[in-house]
Amino acid sequence: MRLDRFIESKLAYSAQTVRDLFVQRKVMLNGVLVSEGRGRITEFCRVEVDGKVLQAREAIYIMLHKPKGCVSATSDAKNKTVLDLVDIPEKESLHLAGRLDFNTTGLLLLTNDGKWSRKLTQPQQKIPKTYWVKTQNEITLGYVKKFSEGFYFQFEDLTTLPAELNILSSHTALLTIYEGRYHQIKRMFGFFQNEVMELHRVSIGNIRLDENLAAGGYRLLTRGELEFVN
Ligand code: URA
Repeated sequence: MRLDRFIESKLAYSAQTVRDLFVQRKVMLNGVLVSEGRGRITEFCRVEVDGKVLQAREAIYIMLHKPKGCVSATSDAKNKTVLDLVDIPEKESLHLAGRLDFNTTGLLLLTNDGKWSRKLTQPQQKIPKTYWVKTQNEITLGYVKKFSEGFYFQFEDLTTLPAELNILSSHTALLTIYEGRYHQIKRMFGFFQNEVMELHRVSIGNIRLDENLAAGGYRLLTRGELEFVN
Protein backbone atom coordinates (compact mmCIF):
# COMPACT_ATOMS: atom_id res chain seq x y z
CA MET A 1 0.00 0.00 0.00
CA ARG A 2 1.15 3.57 -0.68
CA LEU A 3 2.26 5.48 2.41
CA ASP A 4 -0.01 8.48 1.73
CA ARG A 5 -3.07 6.27 1.15
CA PHE A 6 -2.30 4.40 4.37
CA ILE A 7 -2.24 7.65 6.37
CA GLU A 8 -5.44 8.88 4.69
CA SER A 9 -7.34 5.74 5.64
CA LYS A 10 -5.84 5.39 9.11
CA LEU A 11 -6.58 8.98 10.16
CA ALA A 12 -9.60 9.60 7.90
CA TYR A 13 -7.80 12.62 6.41
CA SER A 14 -8.27 14.03 2.92
CA ALA A 15 -5.56 13.56 0.29
CA GLN A 16 -4.79 17.30 0.54
CA THR A 17 -4.40 17.19 4.34
CA VAL A 18 -1.98 14.26 4.01
CA ARG A 19 0.02 16.06 1.29
CA ASP A 20 0.34 18.99 3.69
CA LEU A 21 1.68 16.69 6.40
CA PHE A 22 4.51 15.68 4.09
CA VAL A 23 5.25 19.32 3.21
CA GLN A 24 5.31 20.16 6.92
CA ARG A 25 7.76 17.25 7.39
CA LYS A 26 5.58 15.55 9.94
CA VAL A 27 5.76 12.01 8.58
CA MET A 28 8.39 9.50 9.62
CA LEU A 29 8.89 6.13 7.97
CA ASN A 30 11.02 3.63 9.86
CA GLY A 31 12.43 6.46 11.94
CA VAL A 32 13.34 8.68 8.96
CA LEU A 33 11.53 11.89 7.90
CA VAL A 34 9.97 11.51 4.45
CA SER A 35 8.83 14.30 2.15
CA GLU A 36 6.40 12.47 -0.08
CA GLY A 37 4.06 9.54 0.19
CA ARG A 38 4.03 7.68 -3.09
CA GLY A 39 6.35 4.95 -1.88
CA ARG A 40 4.90 1.60 -0.86
CA ILE A 41 4.93 0.32 2.69
CA THR A 42 4.44 -3.13 4.18
CA GLU A 43 2.62 -4.12 7.34
CA PHE A 44 6.00 -4.15 9.09
CA CYS A 45 6.98 -0.52 8.37
CA ARG A 46 6.90 1.87 11.30
CA VAL A 47 4.79 4.92 10.44
CA GLU A 48 4.61 8.02 12.63
CA VAL A 49 2.63 11.19 11.94
CA ASP A 50 3.24 14.25 14.05
CA GLY A 51 4.72 12.10 16.82
CA LYS A 52 1.84 9.63 16.79
CA VAL A 53 2.67 6.01 15.93
CA LEU A 54 0.18 4.68 13.36
CA GLN A 55 1.83 1.33 12.82
CA ALA A 56 4.77 -0.39 14.51
CA ARG A 57 4.57 -4.11 14.00
CA GLU A 58 7.81 -6.05 13.91
CA ALA A 59 8.31 -8.97 11.58
CA ILE A 60 9.31 -12.09 13.51
CA TYR A 61 11.07 -15.15 12.04
CA ILE A 62 11.84 -18.08 14.32
CA MET A 63 13.57 -21.42 13.85
CA LEU A 64 12.39 -24.07 16.26
CA HIS A 65 13.74 -27.53 16.93
CA LYS A 66 10.51 -29.52 17.02
CA PRO A 67 10.59 -32.39 19.48
CA LYS A 68 8.62 -35.63 19.12
CA GLY A 69 5.09 -35.75 20.46
CA CYS A 70 3.76 -32.34 19.61
CA VAL A 71 1.50 -31.05 16.87
CA SER A 72 2.59 -28.66 14.14
CA ALA A 73 -0.28 -26.29 14.81
CA THR A 74 -0.96 -23.14 16.77
CA SER A 75 -3.78 -24.72 18.77
CA ASP A 76 -5.01 -28.23 19.41
CA ALA A 77 -7.75 -29.55 21.68
CA LYS A 78 -5.81 -32.65 22.78
CA ASN A 79 -2.08 -32.32 22.29
CA LYS A 80 0.74 -29.97 23.01
CA THR A 81 1.53 -27.72 20.04
CA VAL A 82 4.80 -26.24 18.85
CA LEU A 83 3.46 -22.82 19.79
CA ASP A 84 3.30 -23.96 23.42
CA LEU A 85 7.11 -24.12 23.27
CA VAL A 86 7.45 -20.47 22.34
CA ASP A 87 7.54 -17.84 25.03
CA ILE A 88 7.50 -14.36 23.48
CA PRO A 89 4.86 -11.63 23.90
CA GLU A 90 3.92 -11.73 20.19
CA LYS A 91 3.44 -15.51 20.03
CA GLU A 92 -0.29 -15.29 19.24
CA SER A 93 0.55 -13.54 15.95
CA LEU A 94 2.75 -16.42 14.74
CA HIS A 95 1.87 -19.09 12.21
CA LEU A 96 3.82 -22.04 10.81
CA ALA A 97 5.70 -21.99 7.52
CA GLY A 98 5.22 -25.69 6.82
CA ARG A 99 4.49 -28.62 9.09
CA LEU A 100 6.01 -31.81 10.45
CA ASP A 101 4.20 -34.95 11.60
CA PHE A 102 3.54 -35.56 15.32
CA ASN A 103 6.67 -37.68 15.82
CA THR A 104 8.91 -36.01 13.25
CA THR A 105 11.62 -33.83 14.78
CA GLY A 106 13.76 -31.01 13.49
CA LEU A 107 13.56 -27.67 11.74
CA LEU A 108 10.28 -25.79 11.84
CA LEU A 109 9.84 -22.13 10.92
CA LEU A 110 7.39 -19.75 12.57
CA THR A 111 6.60 -16.19 11.57
CA ASN A 112 3.99 -13.43 11.59
CA ASP A 113 4.90 -12.51 7.99
CA GLY A 114 2.38 -14.18 5.69
CA LYS A 115 4.10 -13.00 2.53
CA TRP A 116 7.37 -14.64 3.59
CA SER A 117 5.80 -17.94 4.62
CA ARG A 118 3.80 -18.12 1.38
CA LYS A 119 6.98 -17.72 -0.64
CA LEU A 120 8.61 -20.45 1.39
CA THR A 121 5.78 -22.95 1.07
CA GLN A 122 4.52 -22.32 -2.48
CA PRO A 123 5.03 -25.54 -4.45
CA GLN A 124 6.26 -23.59 -7.51
CA GLN A 125 9.28 -22.39 -5.50
CA LYS A 126 10.53 -26.00 -5.21
CA ILE A 127 12.56 -25.16 -2.12
CA PRO A 128 14.70 -28.16 -1.08
CA LYS A 129 13.95 -29.72 2.29
CA THR A 130 16.44 -32.22 3.66
CA TYR A 131 15.58 -34.95 6.16
CA TRP A 132 17.57 -37.55 8.05
CA VAL A 133 15.68 -40.82 7.89
CA LYS A 134 16.01 -44.07 9.83
CA THR A 135 14.08 -47.05 8.53
CA GLN A 136 13.01 -50.45 9.80
CA ASN A 137 14.55 -52.42 6.92
CA GLU A 138 17.69 -51.99 4.90
CA ILE A 139 17.89 -49.13 2.40
CA THR A 140 19.41 -50.67 -0.72
CA LEU A 141 21.11 -48.98 -3.68
CA GLY A 142 18.05 -49.59 -5.84
CA TYR A 143 16.13 -47.00 -3.80
CA VAL A 144 18.24 -44.14 -5.16
CA LYS A 145 16.95 -44.55 -8.72
CA LYS A 146 13.34 -44.83 -7.60
CA PHE A 147 13.58 -41.67 -5.50
CA SER A 148 15.05 -39.80 -8.47
CA GLU A 149 12.28 -41.05 -10.78
CA GLY A 150 9.43 -40.17 -8.41
CA PHE A 151 6.59 -42.11 -6.80
CA TYR A 152 3.05 -42.17 -8.08
CA PHE A 153 0.61 -41.05 -5.36
CA GLN A 154 -2.80 -42.37 -6.29
CA PHE A 155 -4.79 -40.17 -3.92
CA GLU A 156 -3.45 -36.93 -5.44
CA ASP A 157 -2.99 -38.52 -8.88
CA LEU A 158 0.53 -37.20 -9.25
CA THR A 159 4.12 -38.33 -9.39
CA THR A 160 6.48 -36.80 -6.85
CA LEU A 161 9.30 -34.58 -8.10
CA PRO A 162 12.75 -36.15 -8.40
CA ALA A 163 14.26 -36.48 -4.93
CA GLU A 164 17.85 -37.10 -3.86
CA LEU A 165 18.55 -40.04 -1.58
CA ASN A 166 21.97 -40.20 -0.04
CA ILE A 167 22.47 -43.51 1.78
CA LEU A 168 24.45 -43.09 4.99
CA SER A 169 24.30 -46.61 6.42
CA SER A 170 22.22 -49.78 6.05
CA HIS A 171 19.18 -48.15 7.73
CA THR A 172 19.80 -44.40 7.52
CA ALA A 173 19.84 -41.85 4.72
CA LEU A 174 19.64 -38.14 3.95
CA LEU A 175 16.73 -37.35 1.67
CA THR A 176 16.08 -34.06 -0.13
CA ILE A 177 12.60 -33.42 -1.47
CA TYR A 178 11.28 -30.36 -3.31
CA GLU A 179 7.64 -30.38 -2.29
CA GLY A 180 5.60 -31.21 0.79
CA ARG A 181 2.84 -33.75 0.24
CA TYR A 182 0.92 -35.31 3.12
CA HIS A 183 3.18 -37.87 4.90
CA GLN A 184 5.33 -37.70 1.79
CA ILE A 185 8.46 -39.42 3.04
CA LYS A 186 6.63 -42.19 4.89
CA ARG A 187 4.65 -42.89 1.73
CA MET A 188 7.80 -42.91 -0.40
CA PHE A 189 9.44 -45.52 1.83
CA GLY A 190 6.08 -47.25 2.06
CA PHE A 191 6.50 -48.11 -1.62
CA PHE A 192 9.28 -50.49 -0.47
CA GLN A 193 7.25 -51.65 2.58
CA ASN A 194 9.97 -50.07 4.63
CA GLU A 195 8.66 -48.23 7.65
CA VAL A 196 10.18 -44.90 8.66
CA MET A 197 11.23 -45.25 12.29
CA GLU A 198 12.70 -41.78 12.76
CA LEU A 199 12.45 -38.65 10.70
CA HIS A 200 14.31 -35.41 11.38
CA ARG A 201 14.29 -32.28 9.20
CA VAL A 202 17.77 -30.87 8.87
CA SER A 203 17.24 -27.92 6.53
CA ILE A 204 14.86 -25.86 4.43
CA GLY A 205 16.66 -24.12 1.57
CA ASN A 206 19.79 -22.60 3.07
CA ILE A 207 18.32 -22.52 6.57
CA ARG A 208 19.91 -25.34 8.59
CA LEU A 209 18.72 -26.35 12.01
CA ASP A 210 21.12 -24.82 14.51
CA GLU A 211 22.95 -27.69 16.21
CA ASN A 212 23.06 -25.69 19.44
CA LEU A 213 19.28 -25.83 19.71
CA ALA A 214 18.09 -28.71 21.87
CA ALA A 215 14.73 -30.29 21.01
CA GLY A 216 12.08 -27.78 22.01
CA GLY A 217 14.49 -24.84 21.69
CA TYR A 218 14.14 -21.90 19.31
CA ARG A 219 15.86 -18.70 18.20
CA LEU A 220 15.31 -15.82 15.78
CA LEU A 221 16.60 -16.28 12.23
CA THR A 222 19.66 -14.28 11.26
CA ARG A 223 19.64 -11.80 8.37
CA GLY A 224 21.65 -14.22 6.24
CA GLU A 225 19.15 -17.02 6.85
CA LEU A 226 16.29 -14.72 5.90
CA GLU A 227 17.82 -13.53 2.68
CA PHE A 228 17.16 -16.50 0.45
CA VAL A 229 13.41 -16.09 0.77
CA ASN A 230 13.24 -12.28 0.64
N1 URA B 1 7.25 -36.49 5.29
C1 URA B 1 6.62 -37.22 6.23
O1 URA B 1 6.19 -38.34 5.98
N2 URA B 1 6.49 -36.67 7.46
C2 URA B 1 6.96 -35.45 7.79
O2 URA B 1 6.80 -35.01 8.94
C3 URA B 1 7.60 -34.72 6.80
C4 URA B 1 7.74 -35.25 5.54
